[in-house]
Amino acid sequence: MPDIPSNPVAEFCRTEGRHSLFEDEIRKLPIPACSVFMGKDGKIRPAFFKETDTIFKCEDHERTSKEFPRSIERSKDTVLEAVPAEQPEAITGKRVAVLFSGGPAAGGHNVLVGLKAVLGPENILLGIKKGPKGLINGNIFEIDSSSVNSIMNTGGFDYLGTDRTKVKTSEQFQKVKETALRNKLDGLIIVGGDDSNTNAAFIAEYFLEHGVDCNVIGIPKTIDGDMAVSKYLPISFGFDTATKVYSELVGNLTQDAASAVKYYHFVKLMGRTASKITLEVALQTKPAVALISEEIAEKNMSLEDVVDYVANIITRRRLQGINHGVVLVPEGLVEFIPEMKILIQELNHVLAEYERDIKDLPTLKNKQEYIYPLLTPQSAQLMASLPDEIEEMLILDRDDHGNVKVSQIETEKLLIEKIRYKMSQLKRHTEKYFGDEEGKIKATPAQIERFKAASFSTQSHFLGYEGRSAKPTAFDAAFTFNLGLAAGSLVLAGKTGYMAAVTEFDKGGRVLALPISGLIACENRKGKEELVISKDLVKTSSPAFKVFAENRDKWAMQDLFSSPGPIQHWGPTSRQMPIIVALNQEYKDYRSFDFGTEKQIKLD
Ligand code: FBP
Repeated sequence: MPDIPSNPVAEFCRTEGRHSLFEDEIRKLPIPACSVFMGKDGKIRPAFFKETDTIFKCEDHERTSKEFPRSIERSKDTVLEAVPAEQPEAITGKRVAVLFSGGPAAGGHNVLVGLKAVLGPENILLGIKKGPKGLINGNIFEIDSSSVNSIMNTGGFDYLGTDRTKVKTSEQFQKVKETALRNKLDGLIIVGGDDSNTNAAFIAEYFLEHGVDCNVIGIPKTIDGDMAVSKYLPISFGFDTATKVYSELVGNLTQDAASAVKYYHFVKLMGRTASKITLEVALQTKPAVALISEEIAEKNMSLEDVVDYVANIITRRRLQGINHGVVLVPEGLVEFIPEMKILIQELNHVLAEYERDIKDLPTLKNKQEYIYPLLTPQSAQLMASLPDEIEEMLILDRDDHGNVKVSQIETEKLLIEKIRYKMSQLKRHTEKYFGDEEGKIKATPAQIERFKAASFSTQSHFLGYEGRSAKPTAFDAAFTFNLGLAAGSLVLAGKTGYMAAVTEFDKGGRVLALPISGLIACENRKGKEELVISKDLVKTSSPAFKVFAENRDKWAMQDLFSSPGPIQHWGPTSRQMPIIVALNQEYKDYRSFDFGTEKQIKLD
């Protein structure tokens, strides 16, 4: 029991400015460090790197070798592995800057803790404010130990800020060079997803070409989990925290559905492209329905097929007396439905060519009149069949990397609307849909009467931003600390154009450096071919997907939902890693990660 304060109001006010009881305690939580970073004296030290036998050769190797000739000449696209430094020569006086890029992800602050710890007091860590834009503008400052101590194990990207600027024009590259030279940078760490790490590779190459002696290292971040490279990097940081936040909330909704027994909660879950978040949350909560975009694309399902699939489950549940539940919808779904994908691609071309004209048009009707004739008849017809709000969202601006802003498309509402119509059809034409014939739903007359008496009541939710800046889970706190240690070690070892990686989460962590140029392939963006790191999507052949596919019908028909509860930073569930990682990597147990020996970190 804490002491009873003599002045309760003063004690309450003391918690202002990130000093809640929880935040003060979480800062003290020990963090594990992989053994390659541990000296015999028990102190953190930089690791060395040696070449492995693994070479990354992407499909577009000919093209990438033209874009990254100097990086590839140096790295030979070979994966490096960290080894303990035998007798480390003290490296001093290096100046290393770090920035966050793209959407926030829990654990970013512990990257800074890892960097500061490995660089030690003899080198300088600099922070770049507001992401790549800050790099271009030279918005840079020195990070001191007390600031790092104060953000340890805490969430968000608020200490540095972030943005989505893509360094692409020659003026921007020139300005980045000026920032590096003006600040005498020996290293630049870019914490980001596929687009930002691609940018890191381009900046590394530019520095080599222009004689800027500054090593560029990427760190894999994104809650979406698609910045991953098979067994070399099972997941990006932020995924574990975000999915645990969403799983708690979805678990609560499954409980609400079963308690109030009147609602279907349609929950759109973040994840711009990959459905990894949805798959993980489904494995944690076992909802009535979870749609996986990659499967839908693979089965070539149309929007109507998706609607029929969900309506069928809802109908079969209702026949059994269950008229409530949770439906998970991945954020990126619309881009995976074949006819929607074609429509978006056509819109991308039209927007790329006529963006200015379209922007100037005042109403949606004016935009429709302008755009429809430029689309194929099938796409124009599909577009016209969508609710106005969805149409408006599809023709919204793209982000700096050319992506559709899917987080703003209300797919969950689109599905609700279409499923509601389908359910009313089922009610009105029972003879067409129910019966013993093949393709019909089997039901007794009494069940059909009950089916007709029930109504389809829904609530829609979007879970996204609430999971990105949460306090990192113990897994993400440890993962990011070690990624920071790895990135700092790589800079000190004179490596450039690599992404820091940690794998083997079940055995103390294996630290790797992945040559970014070896991960890059051609992708169509805004109607143009661009070089970018390929996203790691859900594979329907993966063990995690198979477990889901084998069990989902049982979860739907028997209502076997489960509620994982709140994130524990201490206690029995605190060592849990993402279930999809444990299944896909064939670890024996998802309940206890191992990143090495825990250490209380306090920087002087
Ligand atoms: P990153 O890949 O940059 O980390 O961003 C992930 C994400 O959270 C997506 O899931 C989502 O679609 C997008 O960011 C939303 O971005 P914004 O912050 O621009 O609304």
